[in-house]
Amino acid sequence: MAKKALITGITGQDGSYLAEHLLSLGYEVSGLIRRNSVTENQQSRLDPIAHHIDNQYGDVSDPSSIDRVIMKVKPDEVYNLAAQSHVRISFEIPQYTAQTNALGALNVLESVRSHSPEAHFYQASSSEMFGNSVDPDNMQRETTRMTPVSPYGCSKLFAYSVVRNYRNAYKLFCSNGILFNHESPRRASNFVTSKIIKNAVLISQGKLAKLEMGNLDSQRDWGHSKDYVRAMHLILQHKEPDDFVISTGETHSIREFCDIVFKKLGMDYREYVVQNPKYMRPEELRYLCGDCSKAKKILGWKPDYTFESLIDEMIEMWLKHAGTTGVPSK
Ligand code: NAP
Ligand code: GDD
Repeated sequence: MAKKALITGITGQDGSYLAEHLLSLGYEVSGLIRRNSVTENQQSRLDPIAHHIDNQYGDVSDPSSIDRVIMKVKPDEVYNLAAQSHVRISFEIPQYTAQTNALGALNVLESVRSHSPEAHFYQASSSEMFGNSVDPDNMQRETTRMTPVSPYGCSKLFAYSVVRNYRNAYKLFCSNGILFNHESPRRASNFVTSKIIKNAVLISQGKLAKLEMGNLDSQRDWGHSKDYVRAMHLILQHKEPDDFVISTGETHSIREFCDIVFKKLGMDYREYVVQNPKYMRPEELRYLCGDCSKAKKILGWKPDYTFESLIDEMIEMWLKHAGTTGVPSK
């Protein structure tokens, strides 16, 4: 019999790639979607697979809706990806962020404990939980101290901790993937990679004069979402629940990212990129570089994309679509 998976956050970047991956493995896939006043585009990332997915209305901040969906779907695997996932915006809506990311995860976990205790549960944890902690070798790994520097990071640390607590207290199969930044052509254009690429393309087409950015000196370890959703699935197939860092082990600054993208489009970023304090954060996570040797060794996971092929794929998509709105996004 086919395995059943339930994905919260299925309409997002990772949820849509994960749904495709699980369908390709023969799973029956259900997703939790929120009621939205505009239905057009709400599920656009799921367009290629829409007819193969069973979507249920619900919201992770509404426990009764989660109970109803879990009881109806009876999943073998639950992937909790739902979140207010933007770090800077979490400073503007901290309580909403905590309701969704921290209590929302607890709501899903409680529902699994009550109605589907045999299900394997995946929590979308984040490298943002490390804050500015770094090991002496300049990397972060499963054992690195977690000292988050944003309401988003704090909310994710609560969810991460409660997953470990439920694993020990109730013997549930619940695991954390501690994922470093991952991008794709489906990345929303208010995250830095998509923002730079989309707006550099608009500049190259003469539709925009300047690109306004925040901190150019922070450094990130960027992978591809398609590679990272494979890791999510592998984490739940492991013989026991555990926590795994998923990363590339390579880090680049935002400035370097601008330089590469503008050069690929035949331009010099220094002529177009300006800083606007509006995009700075009250507290910044300065540096991320993940050591994923545990996942490589135990799960046999490794990324297929390189930094270069990730950027090329994103540029290709934005060259086709940037002009459709013509408006630079934050
Ligand atoms: P995303 O594109 O922002 O998707 C977030 C998803 O959560 C969307 O489907 C959104 O639905 C849904 N959602 C938000 N609030 C909800 C609520 N109250 N109830 C139900 N669904 C809700 O994020 P992503 O990049 O795919 O990331 C997936 C998960 O991994 C998130 O938890 C994120 O925090 C975490 N993560 C991401 C990264 C990364 O670099 N991408 C790294 C580490 C961890 P709508 O479409 O209706 O808004
Ligand atoms: N978004 C954005 N917009 N970021 C900017 C800008 C700008 O105009 N200018 C500079 N940056 C810098 C940010 O200050 C940050 O240091 C870096 O670019 C990356 O920002 P984002 O792309 O917004 O990602 P993030 O690292 O804050 O968070 C992402 O990765 C986390 C994992 O580490 C998100 O996907 C989180 O959901 C995820 O958990």
